[in-house]
This record gives sequence, structure tokens and C-alpha cells, in this order.
Amino acid sequence: MCDHWMPTIKLSLTIEQFHELPRHPAYKYEYLAGQAWLTPRSKHYHAILDLKPLDVPVDATLRHVEDSDWPDLHHLFSAAFHRTQPYGSLDEPTRMQAAEEALERTRTGGDGPWIRQASFVALEDANIIGAVFVTLLPKGDLCDWDSYHWTAPPPPDCIERRQGNAHLTWIFVAPLLGGQGTGSVLLAAAVRELIALGYTQLVSTFMLGNDASMLWHWRNGFQLLSYPGSFRLMKERWKRK
Ligand SMILES: CC(C)(COP(=O)(O)OP(=O)(O)OC[C@H]1O[C@@H](n2cnc3c(N)ncnc32)[C@H](O)[C@@H]1OP(=O)(O)O)[C@@H](O)C(=O)NCCC(=O)NCCS
Repeated sequence: MCDHWMPTIKLSLTIEQFHELPRHPAYKYEYLAGQAWLTPRSKHYHAILDLKPLDVPVDATLRHVEDSDWPDLHHLFSAAFHRTQPYGSLDEPTRMQAAEEALERTRTGGDGPWIRQASFVALEDANIIGAVFVTLLPKGDLCDWDSYHWTAPPPPDCIERRQGNAHLTWIFVAPLLGGQGTGSVLLAAAVRELIALGYTQLVSTFMLGNDASMLWHWRNGFQLLSYPGSFRLMKERWKRK
């Protein structure tokens, strides 16, 4: 994940002001010696979509990601996350650095092999206004922490042979163009390509506190998966041992 970009925030406040602070679920709030300490404690949840063609009117121009797109994608990523954790508390140069790191990781397989066929950019007047990136996670129980990273190098033909779970790693849209269906159109294109590749499900991850992301997943038909740290799930696993 990318939580290492979330800074600890320290604010000099009275205890009364501390109690008035609005709370964000990705932070732990403590008051120490006249200072509010906001320490990152992000919580990620996973969701799944059973794949069938999505009924979304496609009025945006979409195409696959091209090698020359990366600089524009870094800028767009940084802009899209400028108010969204884990990048929302960074200054602009640091957020750009984080954007480059995040997309470079995806491009080079750090999030699992990049399913290039199912990754798209959306264009308006030849400018990139949104993007979706899909990668391949290892096969495994999706309610298990270990199913979200490869512990051994994936086989070279793992995408074609569907030796894993397709994962929606990034979706982002230019902030001024949000809420106009671009994210859903990008998802529909990714879904169409995944179905053509023989995949039946798409997994995704969202951070608690990123309301737009959470609601977007929900509205597009994703179902919440059991939390890997679920006490009930852990008890069931212990019983089965
Ligand atoms: C999440 C994101 C990609 C959504 O893209 P979008 O193009 O704005 O989404 P859409 O227009 O397709 O919205 C589809 C549905 O999602 C929900 N939704 C999208 N943005 C929302 C917001 N800001 N607040 C509440 N609901 C939202 C709505 O229910 C909407 O359906 P409706 O228009 O019928 O009500 C976009 O907000 C974004 O880029 N966010 C910053 C990056 C990010 O957090 N990405 C997700 C994690 S990788």
C-alpha cells in the first residue's frame, strides 16, 4: 500500500480545541503536552464485483495506456488525490513524487503483474482526464491478508492463464470533472476486457475515509468482502484448524 506517505500531523492546541477537531477515520487522535498528534492509522477494506457487461453509456473517449502517457498520468494522479488520503496532506512536490512512485510501482509489477489490456485512459480534447489500472493478485482467499501480494515471482503467462485475481489498483479522475460518469465508464471498459480475457471477478480496495471511492464502488455494484482482521472470521478459522 502507500500509507507511508501519510505524515504524522502535530498541532499546538488547547485541550478544548483538540476536542473540537473534526475526526478522520484514517488517523488516530492523541493529545500530548499541549499538542494534538494525528498519527496515520489507515484501514483498508476489500470489495468484489462479479463480472458482467456494465450498462454504462460510453460518451467518453477511451484508449489503452501508452508509454508516453506517464508524465500526464503523474500530474493527473497528484491532482485527483490532492484532498484524498493517503496523499491529501502532502505538499505539491511531495505529492508528485508520491504519484510517480505509485504509478511506477504499478507499471513495473509491484502491485502484481499489470493487466495492460484492462487498463485505460479517458480523454477529453486529447487530454487525459481519468485512468483505470488493473493488476493481478495471487489466487487465494480474498479475506486473507496474504492474498494481496505475491510472495513468489508470478509465472510470466499468469495473466493469460488467469492464475490470480484481477484487482482494480487505481482509478482516478480529474477533480473538476468528477461525478460525470468518467470513473464508471473506465470501469465498464476494464470489465469488458477482463471478461474477454476470461475473468469472472474483479477485486478492489478502498481506504476508510475516502468516501468518494467507497460510494463509487458501492454504486457500481461492488460487494464488501469480509475484513481480513474480522474477529468472527478468525474464530471460524481457529475452529477449522
Ligand atoms: C472515485 C472516483 C474515481 C470516482 O470517479 P467519478 O468519475 O467521479 O465517478 P462517477 O461519476 O462514475 O460516479 C459514479 C457513482 O459514484 C458515486 N460517487 C462518485 N464520486 C462521489 C463523491 N465525490 N461523493 C459521493 N459519491 C460519489 C456516486 O454515487 C456516483 O453515482 P451517481 O452519479 O449516479 O450518483 C473519483 O472521485 C476520484 O478520482 N477520486 C480520487 C481518487 C480516488 O480516491 N480513487 C479511488 C481509489 S484508487
